[in-house]
Amino acid sequence: MAQQVKAVIARAKGAPVEVTTIVVPDPGPGEAVVRIQACGVCHTDLHYREGGINDEFPFLLGHEAAGIVETVGEGVTEVAPGDFVILNWRAVCGQCRACRRGRAQYCFNTHNAKQRMTLLDGTELSPALGIGAFAEKTLVAAGQCTKVDPQAEPAVAGLLGCGVMAGLGAAINTGGVGRGDSVAVIGCGGVGGAAVMGSRLAGAARIIAVDIDDRKLEKALALGATHTVNSRTTDPVEAIRELTGGNGADVVVEAVGRPETYKQAFYARDLAGTVVLVGVPTPEMTLELPLLDVFGRGGALKSSWYGDCLPSRDFPMLIDLYLQGRLDLGAFVTETIELDGVEQAFARMHEGDVLRSVVVF
Ligand SMILES: NC(=O)c1ccc[n+]([C@@H]2O[C@H](COP(=O)([O-])OP(=O)(O)OC[C@H]3O[C@@H](n4cnc5c(N)ncnc54)[C@H](O)[C@@H]3O)[C@@H](O)[C@H]2O)c1
Ligand SMILES: [Zn+2]
Ligand SMILES: [Zn+2]
Repeated sequence: MAQQVKAVIARAKGAPVEVTTIVVPDPGPGEAVVRIQACGVCHTDLHYREGGINDEFPFLLGHEAAGIVETVGEGVTEVAPGDFVILNWRAVCGQCRACRRGRAQYCFNTHNAKQRMTLLDGTELSPALGIGAFAEKTLVAAGQCTKVDPQAEPAVAGLLGCGVMAGLGAAINTGGVGRGDSVAVIGCGGVGGAAVMGSRLAGAARIIAVDIDDRKLEKALALGATHTVNSRTTDPVEAIRELTGGNGADVVVEAVGRPETYKQAFYARDLAGTVVLVGVPTPEMTLELPLLDVFGRGGALKSSWYGDCLPSRDFPMLIDLYLQGRLDLGAFVTETIELDGVEQAFARMHEGDVLRSVVVF
């Protein structure tokens, strides 16, 4: 039977979010209902609220979540009621041209639940990134549930569902950071901070954190940066070159999503090095670079969707490393809050003093 639960919605562009009652249908074929235990507040939730993603209001916000599978629909075999799962926003199809070539991390046809959750009056909700987890329960495609070790703290595990995975994966999966490499990370919020942590995990010898906010640089040091550069006061390209014997870094991760920081990344990398764009630009932004420099500097200019992760491969592995004390994912949880604290958490995100606020149910 359909259930009524409390959830956070964005009803109209720019309007404060509100806690309301929503209707969650029973799972249909290939779907699952998950009881949410924790859900982080991500910049993308704010983008939805501000109409920056699309106009399909009302949105059911929240997408960095972990919880317990409550019920599954017909034909679901990958998870069962009682499983502890992290929700992912790229459930791979297994059949598109990327999947068929064994590159499921690029799946071009990821999917979500087919049924819609609604308001009490029947208005259909648009769940953020096909998840919608600022809710006591949510409906997703079963493939969006990735089973991990239930000993993990839900507030920590949920963060792998978006920003932390995107940053870790940008360094490790997309950038291919390895032992002895030099890495620079431009923009050290939740995503860039995770790129710093991923670089340390992969054995990078030099990890240079760049931000315009000293508080973020301090956090980056705690996450594994070996050097910091405040690019408000210091030219980051010069500084990164100086710190790498005059050459530039092997891998530069851009975690802001702006043309000027992309250019910094492009010129702060060594010859034949790699630039990874994980920050998300807005539609009006364009980039101009001398084509001769693009050719002459060689190497690779890559973009990273969701850290090029494969949830079924990466989530359980990273949770195991965290449980073994080898990956301090807990460092990203700045505060835990209640469901009615999301609007205030948006304000704190703007002030720049949190990596992540996490709603705990
Ligand atoms: N590719 C993906 O799959 C993916 C997934 C999640 C988030 N993202 C994107 O990653 C980006 C970062 O997300 P976040 O959650 O870390 O945001 P955030 O707001 O927590 O962090 C952004 C950081 O960039 C810094 N910054 C801003 N302007 C700068 C500049 N000119 N130079 C240097 N630093 C600057 C800020 O001080 C802040 O520390 C966003 O664009 C977000 O949309 C991408
Ligand atoms: Zn596919
Ligand atoms: Zn997110």
